[in-house]
Amino acid sequence: MIRDRKPKRFRRTITAGISIGAAVLLVAPWAQGWFYAPFSARRFAAAADNADASRAAVEVLRAGGNAVDAAIAASLALGVVSPSSSGFGGGGFALVCQPTGGRCTFVDFRETAPAALTIERIRNAANPSRASQVGGLAVGVPGEPMGFIEMARRYGRKPLSVSVGPAVRLARNGFRVSPFLADRLAQERPELQSNPAFASVFSRGGVPFSSGELLRRPRLATTLERYGREGERFVHGALAQAIESTVRAAGGVLTADDIRGYHSVERTPLSRVFRGATVVTAPPPSAGGVVLLETLAQYDALAARNLPLVSQTSATFHALADAFKHGFDDRARYVGDPGNSQLDRPSAVAESLLAPARLAQRHRTFDASRARPVVVIEPARDQGTTHLCVIDSDGMAVSLTTTVNLSFGSRVVVDSMDVLLNDQIDDFSLGTAGNNFGLANSTPNALAVGRRPISSMAPTIVLRDGRPVLAAGASGGPRIATATTQVILNVLAHGMNVEAAVASPRIHHQGAPDVLLVEREVSEDVRLGLRARGYQVQESDTPLAAATAISVGEIAGTRALFASSDPRKQGGAPAGE
Ligand code: DON
Repeated sequence: MIRDRKPKRFRRTITAGISIGAAVLLVAPWAQGWFYAPFSARRFAAAADNADASRAAVEVLRAGGNAVDAAIAASLALGVVSPSSSGFGGGGFALVCQPTGGRCTFVDFRETAPAALTIERIRNAANPSRASQVGGLAVGVPGEPMGFIEMARRYGRKPLSVSVGPAVRLARNGFRVSPFLADRLAQERPELQSNPAFASVFSRGGVPFSSGELLRRPRLATTLERYGREGERFVHGALAQAIESTVRAAGGVLTADDIRGYHSVERTPLSRVFRGATVVTAPPPSAGGVVLLETLAQYDALAARNLPLVSQTSATFHALADAFKHGFDDRARYVGDPGNSQLDRPSAVAESLLAPARLAQRHRTFDASRARPVVVIEPARDQGTTHLCVIDSDGMAVSLTTTVNLSFGSRVVVDSMDVLLNDQIDDFSLGTAGNNFGLANSTPNALAVGRRPISSMAPTIVLRDGRPVLAAGASGGPRIATATTQVILNVLAHGMNVEAAVASPRIHHQGAPDVLLVEREVSEDVRLGLRARGYQVQESDTPLAAATAISVGEIAGTRALFASSDPRKQGGAPAGE
């Protein structure tokens, strides 16, 4: 009856609307940019910030490898195609979750301080701030080589010789330089003039490779091939010797024995139940997981006070910024390397930082209308690092972040092997003017023999009923922690799919100077709302970190994986089948 009373023209409009809607739904998957249509796959998926690396993971999954083998393959490929961010001469963290039972482990393959490196050596250098970033003294004991051997042995299904395959091929046959790498290389012109080993890999006669050009790295191909074939024998033998002599020639003190003494450490990850899911994340020596879980706790506390937390509003960004500032303050005061014997034991420091009573006191004094001061720190710029996620056909998930620290690490290259070494020593508190990211000096993060510096890297996996349903993480210095937190909240609290969760505009606050960075896309009203609460709002001149994520869902009742590589980092794309 009601329908009959509607005028004919209105009915025609409705019919036309429905037809157009149906057409849009049919066309939408091909009409990129119309709305967020995440990449989907049925069996397995990988999301790295470089398409070649995502494909490397998929190649190993197709060959019967599991998520761990695939994550190793993607990481090694990234060291070839995206060497400003990560590589064989660096280190990182991997969170590995089994398909069922909520069993997750955190593999810490971060660099350590060489035995002979003292703070005085750096302080006495002609330019101490530079000494911890460029040259031999900046180099920490690389963690990737042994880390991947140990990870593959414990959790992989295929020998390392299979996982190195795609990286070897990319290095030997060449790869197209991504816009991201071209941009990084363009900024290295002075280094290319003064550093022959660096220039021999990344330039033709001092002219950096540009986007789309074919770059071959035959020496690295041979290095990776030997690594795949000989494993530990190669790492402790030829590689260790070559690194020692290169670092010594570059003014450093790292020895082959430091490399022989290096092992990855398995740690119990941190976790928190949030909106019916279990969020599993990085423990110390990362501070990223602490920031993430403190922020989830803040969301829970504010929800309990009936404060609405709607995505992309000034009220929500205020809640986030407040949690971030406190998280970074905790980092600066308390977080350090918990040591090498953490297997099966959670980090005591993180547990006490996350203690409900402690956080409740902080949440009680949150004022929804006003920012509150917190001490500490300085702003930062994005440089290197890479994050990737893999979920395999059994449902095993890996979330892995790896880095050489700043762009191209120490710029020290082992010439004969084309291995670029990290500058992770800069992540220690060296008592100098604060590190590249302006993070405050702190006693728990002081340089000490064999110690790992604190990190922001926060590979994270969310479980439901003990099964991985979401993997996420980011690159971008301290912004890793705040970006990963926003991606996780966008999915779990704001109901977004992974594509939207990764792409949505972000904010960052890391304490002091008391500046709230917002991305260009954050609207003027939101900025006004934040200023009204007392924030010093500043538009960031670079995107705030680059994230990747994979979620597990369904299409028409069948399991499907949705994957996203951040549009902020050009050249990234997921892969799967
Ligand atoms: O571990 C860390 O937190 C840093 N070494 C990460 C460096 C980084 O993300 C560089 N990019 N901005």
